[in-house]
Amino acid sequence: MGLSWDGLLCYIAALKFQIHKANWEVDREKLYSVRYTVFVKEQKVPEEFEEDELDPVARHLLATLEDGAPIGTARWTDEGGGDIRVGRVAVLRELRRCGVGSLLIATLLEDAKNDGFLTAHLHAQVSSILFYSNLGFSETDDPEFEEAGIPHRMMERKL
Ligand SMILES: CC(C)(COP(=O)(O)OP(=O)(O)OC[C@H]1O[C@@H](n2cnc3c(N)ncnc32)[C@H](O)[C@@H]1OP(=O)(O)O)[C@@H](O)C(=O)NCCC(=O)NCCS
Repeated sequence: MGLSWDGLLCYIAALKFQIHKANWEVDREKLYSVRYTVFVKEQKVPEEFEEDELDPVARHLLATLEDGAPIGTARWTDEGGGDIRVGRVAVLRELRRCGVGSLLIATLLEDAKNDGFLTAHLHAQVSSILFYSNLGFSETDDPEFEEAGIPHRMMERKL
């Protein structure tokens, strides 16, 4: 892994984190605190878009520090036909480029694969395309579109 300013904290703090399967009813406060910080405060997504009707039925993953402090989230939903949709992927800004996002997605894909799902789809913010490409996702032929005022592309990969 190359040393970048973004990743410097990982080296200084010898960052240790864990990925947990989470439950919306039990872990809502921790999941929402990360999503609120990243999407609402940092990216200015309107707060009313943040929590939706999929949250109670989605499978959630939570990344925490050793003391349990939440630092990252992701979720996936059953789209039917063996497909899943990945979303709400977020890592607190000060802890990015430490591998947290990659391990969240790897764990999520493994989880879905073990449950017999075949393909993962997601709406990638254009600024995150490289992150997802590194994890085996490819852009589809669909044109760029806006969601909550942010440009996105569709991406997918086989599980
Ligand atoms: C996208 C996001 C989840 C990545 O999380 P992360 O913990 O920083 O990801 P990782 O440390 O596992 O990054 C793995 C690799 O992805 C690539 N990558 C990650 N963020 C990148 C960025 N901003 N620009 C370019 N490449 C990036 C790098 O190749 C990186 O490896 P490296 O650090 O060894 O170069 C995080 O940047 C984030 O929360 N962004 C804001 C919310 C967001 O945009 N979510 C995605 C919605 S679709």
